[in-house]
Amino acid sequence: MSAVTIAEVVGTATEVVGTARDRVDGRLKAMGAATYPIDVTLPGLAHAVLVQSTVTNGRIRHIAVDAAEEAPGVLAVITHVNAPALARGPTTAPGRPSPLPPLQSDVVLHYGQHVAMVVAETREQAQAATALIEVTYQPDTPVLAYDDPRASRVSHPWTPDHVRGDVRRALAAADVQVNATYTTAENTNNPIGLFATVALWDGDALTVHDTTQWPQHVRDSLAAAFGVDSGGVRVLAPFVGGAFGAGLRVWPHVPLAALGARVTKRPVKLVLTRAQMFTSVGHRPTSIQQLSLGASRDGQLTAIEHVSTSSIGMSDEMINLITTGTIDAYACPNISTRASQVRQSIPTPGWMRAPGEAEGSFTLESVIDELSYAVGIDPIDLRVKNHAHVHPESGLPWSSNALLDCYRQGAERFGWSARNPKPRSMRNGGQLVGYGMARAALFAYQPPCKAIASIRRDGTVFVSSSATDIGTGTYTVMTMLAAECLGVPIERVQSGLGDSAMPMAPMQGGSGLTGALGNAVQAACVDLVRTFLNRVSGDEVSPIRGCRLEDITVRDGGIQITDDPARFETYADILTRHGLNEITIEAESAPPGETASATMVPRGGRFVPFTTPSTGGRAHAGAFAAHFVEVHVDPDLGTIRVARVVSAVDGGRILNPKTARSQIIGGIVGGIGMALLEKTVSDRTGRVVTTSLADYVVAANADVRDIDVLFVGQPDSMTPIGTKGVGELAMLGMPAAIANAVYHATGTRVRSLPISIEKVLGHESSKSEPSRTGISQ
Ligand code: MOS
Repeated sequence: MSAVTIAEVVGTATEVVGTARDRVDGRLKAMGAATYPIDVTLPGLAHAVLVQSTVTNGRIRHIAVDAAEEAPGVLAVITHVNAPALARGPTTAPGRPSPLPPLQSDVVLHYGQHVAMVVAETREQAQAATALIEVTYQPDTPVLAYDDPRASRVSHPWTPDHVRGDVRRALAAADVQVNATYTTAENTNNPIGLFATVALWDGDALTVHDTTQWPQHVRDSLAAAFGVDSGGVRVLAPFVGGAFGAGLRVWPHVPLAALGARVTKRPVKLVLTRAQMFTSVGHRPTSIQQLSLGASRDGQLTAIEHVSTSSIGMSDEMINLITTGTIDAYACPNISTRASQVRQSIPTPGWMRAPGEAEGSFTLESVIDELSYAVGIDPIDLRVKNHAHVHPESGLPWSSNALLDCYRQGAERFGWSARNPKPRSMRNGGQLVGYGMARAALFAYQPPCKAIASIRRDGTVFVSSSATDIGTGTYTVMTMLAAECLGVPIERVQSGLGDSAMPMAPMQGGSGLTGALGNAVQAACVDLVRTFLNRVSGDEVSPIRGCRLEDITVRDGGIQITDDPARFETYADILTRHGLNEITIEAESAPPGETASATMVPRGGRFVPFTTPSTGGRAHAGAFAAHFVEVHVDPDLGTIRVARVVSAVDGGRILNPKTARSQIIGGIVGGIGMALLEKTVSDRTGRVVTTSLADYVVAANADVRDIDVLFVGQPDSMTPIGTKGVGELAMLGMPAAIANAVYHATGTRVRSLPISIEKVLGHESSKSEPSRTGISQ
């Protein structure tokens, strides 16, 4: 990988925030000292292993468990016959994260559904006993196709049909029309850490270690499932071995682990196998999308119609935002989007890194590329021409938008000007060379979040919240925010996450946690400094008595009068003199509100007034990016190599360029996988046949060459810390940028992910290709 410049960070780079920092938990992880859920062990621990349905649809006629119950070490065998009623988890702001609770009837809705659980003294004994369980099914014909007449179609209430202007009329009147159908494959999250749950009951109190992105929701779901008080349920996930969205729902194995512990009165550990991960913790469902563009001959967009259909389980509700990003993507007066889901006998889908948005942006950004050839305009120029200078739906100015800088600076860094626009015109030795690009944008999302901050008498600081760090760097940036706001060396700040007993926090999802948690941490720390000032306001001995936030500078673990460096006092001295062990403040951050609100924010040790604009006056922008990709395609073999990537990113204020860059690289690598490699395959009967990382191929080191990330833009004006989420951003547009580069290299437009060798060589059977494709002019 080439050296990456991170000096482009614009804004309020001060000593801590805005500087590239190592992860505060990096050493712990490198030493193997970070405890992931799978590492948890407890005295008297028993082990649970699951039996999963081998049929796709039907009923369990009989389930023979006698031999398993008699097997060595077995403590319990639980099936739908003897399982107690388990209630479904609550509905939350992002929908209903809990699928149907397990073992509640003889009905089988999908392959891999849990039908029995063995709890034994050892995992090996439990595993051996599962082989003795005989399940007799009465199979039914599964629904596996979108056009199956038995497949019911649903629309999620949160993705209603969206209309702006009159798209039909605009399409009919357009000089140029592009109509195309795109499809995306099923993808499965494959974090290296296998999902694990360890449960321990003490009366009606339950402690659970779980692979989750949302401890408090797991707590609430388990409390609901077992009908116990959520105050007695504690969920711990201080480290999560990757999740990418798979940890956003409370999957059926979680209450099963708790059930095993309740039945056996032992702590129980349940670890999914890699094969079980393909059916038990969600997947990115397949999609079919029709997209029509209308434009003037000079490339001005006049109409966009985007219709998506994706698959969903037989009894599930899950929002899938395939068409959402299209609405605000370009300055186009006529828009129509529709999203529906077709029920199929498939394992329950879940959210997977940029869920829906990744699929939708693949289609939109590919079709924009198709339009660029139809009108003979450079893909960047076409996007610049249709840039949304204001929010297209509301007409409001953006809270921040440096997308044009992303295009400009990214193109320059990439060397886009060397591109010959003609497909199949560039070569490197025997390889066809293609340059492709795409735009990316993710919605702004900031759910409410609380955090506490304490300063202790020994001069250390503790900040915490119940959110998780799924490897994104949350511990690190919250530590940095606290250190800077309090003027305390970063080494003296400890941070706590991943404990449902800590302050209220949302899921680590939707790229929204840094904004939600960061603003809460900062608010708590500002309030903490103010509390210290109040504490000494009448303190005759204090050199800083009678000062306001405006008058001070924080440094070296204390407070100084800005104009008089001699007037300085440490927090520890104040606490000691006042006989206090610590001062703790809790604060809550809220999504930007209807009305503007004033606050104080830290800037380089000082505190300055800051006004959050109202949502009525400004459109809250998410992050933007432009990806530039060079591919090398072997003309004979059809192999595709992503030779290099340049991504220019407007992530607002970048708190830590090192971890933010890692986030972007992660998204790019995920995008390479989605574009070229990843596909969960099921057979004709609905059995998932990709069960390992040998069958399901993710991008590995050999697939990832040269990635260059540059940050452009300014702090976003909408929140005090000025960030925009970068967790999912880079997934968006990457598959399209690659597909566009493949088209430029080969002249073959692949409208179906993943872009396999067969598709590039044109050998893919026409059946799997969408029927209604092509450019009409
Ligand atoms: Mo992400 S799919 O919101 O973890």
